[in-house]
Amino acid sequence: MSEKEALLATKSVDDLRELAQVDHGLKRSLTALDLVMLGIGAIIGTGIFVLTGTAAARNAGPAVVLSFIVAGTASGFAGLCYSEMASMIPISGSAYTYAYATMGELVAWMIGWDLILEYLVAAAAVSVGWSGYVVAFMHDTFGIDLPRAWTSAPVIWDEAKEQFHATGAYLNLPAVLAVLAITALLVRGIKESARFNTIIVFVKVAVVLLFIAFAWSFVKTENWHPFVPENRGHFGKFGVSGVLQGATTVFFAYIGFDAVSTAAQETRNPQRDLPIGILGSLAVCTVLYIAVSLILTGVVPYTKLDVPHPIAVGVEATGQRWLATAVEVGAIAGLSSVMLVMLMGQPRIFFSMAQDGLFPQVAARIHPRFGTPYITTIITGVVCAIAGGVLPIHILAELTSIGTLFAFVLVSIGVMILRIKRPDLPRAFRAPGGPFVVPVLGALSSGLLMCTATPATIIRLFVWMAIGFAVYFFYGRKHSKLRAARKEATP
Ligand code: ALA
Repeated sequence: MSEKEALLATKSVDDLRELAQVDHGLKRSLTALDLVMLGIGAIIGTGIFVLTGTAAARNAGPAVVLSFIVAGTASGFAGLCYSEMASMIPISGSAYTYAYATMGELVAWMIGWDLILEYLVAAAAVSVGWSGYVVAFMHDTFGIDLPRAWTSAPVIWDEAKEQFHATGAYLNLPAVLAVLAITALLVRGIKESARFNTIIVFVKVAVVLLFIAFAWSFVKTENWHPFVPENRGHFGKFGVSGVLQGATTVFFAYIGFDAVSTAAQETRNPQRDLPIGILGSLAVCTVLYIAVSLILTGVVPYTKLDVPHPIAVGVEATGQRWLATAVEVGAIAGLSSVMLVMLMGQPRIFFSMAQDGLFPQVAARIHPRFGTPYITTIITGVVCAIAGGVLPIHILAELTSIGTLFAFVLVSIGVMILRIKRPDLPRAFRAPGGPFVVPVLGALSSGLLMCTATPATIIRLFVWMAIGFAVYFFYGRKHSKLRAARKEATP
């Protein structure tokens, strides 16, 4: 009986606990606190350090605070659904595994393929943001101008003509180097990586708290009036629709809490600790985001925030130069930990898919000394480095958001299906409000945010999913272990 079949045969919490402790060859070293730290490490990044300003200046004005609340609410529903899944199916912890054990191989493949957009592409997007902050830091602090040809994407997307064209640059080299360095760290070991992550989380949370503490007394309440600027005649340009489109933009800031679930096989007590990790990190970040966006729009008029480093601009308004440098360093550190957690999550999903026969077996190999899935870690790192090196940030960020929202919709529906089909399965954590309330709200809120994406992004999602189906039908289906087992069982 396979691990996932064993799961479906379980009747008690004790059975599940036993299953959750199965030895996979991966080291079980992470605690609940490590998981909260991993979550914060994945969540706070480009979203708060860059996109807060973009959404305030272009869409919502001071009401970007409301955008954060809307996006946080959608993420909260999804977080509750992920927690229920994670506490019920703590075996290898990702939306892919949940779907595999509950909705069958094809749906699982769809989610697994879609998650590549969330983790791998997100890491690439963040590597481009990281590169941007490094360029700004070198300029502001040392007066060194790194060459544009080696610090930006060789292609950009022309919105008007709807085609890519060359920029004359060669490669975003800092983005490539950052991804490769983190990949090397991840091959070395998850505990070492978690320790590195914890240090960075302290740095970036400290920087955010310093900003809140220092900038608070410089708030001019007239900057908050009008709180919701009047709509300028287009959907998404201020007014209520601006708050909604702003929510889609800042949604990127919440992505990452579900990466906690991918570390399930390396967690000591996954059933208890995964919901703590997911909901704890989401709650901490939501509070910080609301405070930062409120203060930022109170210190600087929102019209001045459409810059690559809006928090530093907010700090400059307080006259504290040292704090501006600290914010830049904190952002560079913060973006590093986002990449770390994303690049840790992706190989573990590939690993799971390879164990099920949907990817070549070589991907399921574990390093004999370091105990990490090193082959998939290296493949992920190389592909991510190429994407971050050649593509512009907004293409990568938009694809990440739509891919993640799609995964949230599928997970919410999965929770609902399971509550109907398998009410008997023990759940260490249960989303409140009866069988339908949270899953329906989760699917609807993420689905609505998906609808506000640009048409080009929606088309890219369809193309990506079509490629995924082709890979499944030409490779995965033929090598599937589940199908092989079924064939053997049929006389
Ligand atoms: N939430 C992550 C960020 O904002 C992806 O960078």
